[in-house]
Amino acid sequence: MPPSLIAIDGPVASGKSSIGKRLADKLGYLFFDTGVMYRAVTYLALRQLDRADDPRAVTALARRVRIDVLAPTVADGRDCTVLAQAAPAGDTAAGAAPAAEDITWAIRGREVEASVSLVAAISAVRQILTEQMRRVGLRGRVVMVGRDVGTVILPEADLKVFLTASVETRARRRYEEVLARGETRPFADILDNLRERDRIDSSRAIAPLRSAGDAVTLDTTDMTIDDVIAAVEALVVAG
Ligand code: DC
Repeated sequence: MPPSLIAIDGPVASGKSSIGKRLADKLGYLFFDTGVMYRAVTYLALRQLDRADDPRAVTALARRVRIDVLAPTVADGRDCTVLAQAAPAGDTAAGAAPAAEDITWAIRGREVEASVSLVAAISAVRQILTEQMRRVGLRGRVVMVGRDVGTVILPEADLKVFLTASVETRARRRYEEVLARGETRPFADILDNLRERDRIDSSRAIAPLRSAGDAVTLDTTDMTIDDVIAAVEALVVAG
C-alpha cells in the first residue's frame, strides 16, 4: 500500500508542483497545491480592497471567501482549477451567493506574486486557510504541496519530502515557465522576486519554511524532473 498522505514542501520553484502533480496522477490521488489558497486571498484582496498589506482587512476577507480547488476543468495546461466566491464585505443577509469565479490564471500574475508572501505571513489568515487544507488532507489519498505541509498542516503525513535547489536554478525554471506561457518578464526581475519571497517565507514568525525533522530532503539543482520523480517514487515504494 502506498502512503496515503504525502507532503511535499520546498521554496518557490523547487519543482514541488510538477513533481506533486505527476505523482498524484500516477497514484490516482488528489493533487492539492496549498499555495493557491494564499494566492487566491491575495488576488481578491488586491481587487476588492486595492491592497494586501492590511492584516485586519485581509483576515476579514479570508473569513468570507470560499476557495475550491478542483481537478482541471479546462485543458489549457493548468494543474488544477481554482474557484473563488467572496461575499461582499458587511453582507450578513442570506441573499443570493455571488457566482464562483475561475481565478486559476489570475492568481499567477505579477501583482499577486509581489504581495502573496505578505498575506502568507498574517497568522490569522494562516489559521483560517490551514484548517481548510487540513480537512481536505485528512480525507486521505492526497499529495499536498506547500511550505508547511509536513510541519503544520499534516504533521502526521505518511511520507514527507523536502525539495531544494539553488536560487539561480529555481529562477531559471520559473523564467522558462513564464516564457512557455507566452509572457515576457526580465530574468533579473524573477530572481529578485524569488529572493525576496524566500526571505519572507523563511523568516516569518509563524510556520516558516523549513524541513520537518522526519522529511527526506532532495537537492534538485542538478537533477532533471524525471530524476526527481524517480527518486520520489522510490520513496513511495519504500513506504
Ligand atoms: O507555492 P506558491 O508560490 O504558489 O506559494 C505562494 C505563497 O504562499 C508563497 O509566498 C508561500 C506561501 N505558502 C505558504 O506560506 N504555505 C503554504 N503551505 C503554501 C504557500
